[in-house]
Amino acid sequence: MPSALCQFLDIEKPILSAPMGGAAGPDLVASVCNAGGYGVIPLWGKPVDQVVEGIAAVRALTDRNFAVNLNLSFPYQDQLEACIDAKIHAVSLFWGMEPSAFATAKAAGLVVLASVGSVAEAKAAEDAGADVIVAQGWEAGGHVWGQVSTLALIPAVADAVKLPVVAAGGIADGRGMAAALLLGAEGVWVGTRFLGSTEATIHDTYRQSILDASETATEWYYDLYDVDWPAAPHRALKNSTSEHWHTTGSASPGNRPGEQQVIGHRPDGRPILRYQSYTPLPGTDGDVEAMSMWSGQGVALVRQIMPAAEIVEELYLDAKDHLQNRQAIL
Ligand SMILES: Cc1cc2nc3c(=O)[nH]c(=O)nc-3n(C[C@H](O)[C@H](O)[C@H](O)COP(=O)(O)O)c2cc1C
Repeated sequence: MPSALCQFLDIEKPILSAPMGGAAGPDLVASVCNAGGYGVIPLWGKPVDQVVEGIAAVRALTDRNFAVNLNLSFPYQDQLEACIDAKIHAVSLFWGMEPSAFATAKAAGLVVLASVGSVAEAKAAEDAGADVIVAQGWEAGGHVWGQVSTLALIPAVADAVKLPVVAAGGIADGRGMAAALLLGAEGVWVGTRFLGSTEATIHDTYRQSILDASETATEWYYDLYDVDWPAAPHRALKNSTSEHWHTTGSASPGNRPGEQQVIGHRPDGRPILRYQSYTPLPGTDGDVEAMSMWSGQGVALVRQIMPAAEIVEELYLDAKDHLQNRQAIL
């Protein structure tokens, strides 16, 4: 299975760990890289010194290539300059199509991974100079940019662009990976499955909720959680906050029940309000179940906590087995 994407990224396995704000830190990213995949670390929204520290923390754990994830809906220029100064391999750009960001990164020799949710965006990213298109289906966890399911999106995007396509959204085991490759992707971008890794920096209540969840356990919300930037839909586990919000009429921000209620505290003691966008970290106290526990629909396939390297290996071997050895069923 060594694809053009693998050669381009200099990896053995076309498995990319998705950037997951709060959950995918240096340990997870480096473990995926060391296992032959490719890790992406979210460093958007952070001061430059923390971007530099984040890059150094990954480099202390691996000498492999990885990418830094930046959010184009926020000021990103200083973080991008820090990435360029640090000579990182790649940037992953999401939530927007800002040609100057692509141009700056390309001019500095960085590989550019562009997250899209439609063919039109994929073409715009190709025109802007992207090297790899990450097509994210609606099944995905966390912030969900598009409205199209992975099954429909990947072949449409693969047919429309010349660049390698990486499939995201709902891919949580070898069957999903094999399917994505058959649909025209050259690699997979996996988030929710890695929430079930030992390296994911999430609270035990969140981790257990992921293990317990079925395929119907998540919902897509336009603006249930206050994610700090406009028009940023998201997918998360249903919980007591979303149930109460539904039963009281699904009010818009400003009128949701219990908006100013403190439901817990961060490890540093800062309060967490109901509806606040907050990935529950270890050390969080309070009603963790009521917090924004981001998750994709593939969560039903997360059945045990495993080291990230074993998840990479399992996905790779199972996908290979499905692609090479499966009896014809037609
Ligand atoms: C907890 C969590 C946090 C996320 N944070 C980010 C982020 O900071 N940047 C980003 O580009 N995508 C983010 N995403 C989306 C993922 O990059 C990816 O597209 C998604 O997880 C893929 O779908 P899956 O969860 O079904 O594997 C997040 C997803 C999750 C589950």
